[in-house]
Amino acid sequence: KPVASMGTEETYIMVKPDGVHRCLVGEIISRFEKKGFLLKGLKLFQCPKDLAQEHYKDLKEKSFYPSLIDYITSGPVVCMAWEGAGVVASARKLIGATNPLQAEPGTIRGDLAVQTGRNVVHGSDSPENGKREIALWFKEGELCQWVPAQAPWLI
Ligand code: TYD
Repeated sequence: KPVASMGTEETYIMVKPDGVHRCLVGEIISRFEKKGFLLKGLKLFQCPKDLAQEHYKDLKEKSFYPSLIDYITSGPVVCMAWEGAGVVASARKLIGATNPLQAEPGTIRGDLAVQTGRNVVHGSDSPENGKREIALWFKEGELCQWVPAQAPWLI
């Protein structure tokens, strides 16, 4: 009997420019791969300013917003769509707290970062935002609908 049902939830995960610059792309992707989530979309991408502004529109009034937009557009990012039961909350746990100094060891930010403003990775904070962000960062033909044949734990 299947223990979890696929297709129930999607999240948008992004290696930020510092993660790309520091050669952490493989390390970060592998955390989600090894956990057992399903990769639906993946690309290296130079984010234009208007997309960064739309992505972070809820933070528009924050003092750090301008520097956040500069940071996200400062170099290429790696955009990913991951699918799985409970993937949104689970990915947030794998990522760790916003401030890497408060992130637990074993999490991506806890292991790999020291500054809030350079915290190497993004993950959607709700299933609704997961859908919204995947639609924002990916065009339709860039996502693959597939189920791995040899992964009975996924279905
Ligand atoms: P937020 O959505 O609060 O955190 P998270 O990425 O963990 O969901 O904030 C978005 C990004 O804004 C965060 O990853 C880094 C940046 N940021 C700052 O630069 N300074 C801050 O004080 C905060 C709260 C966030």
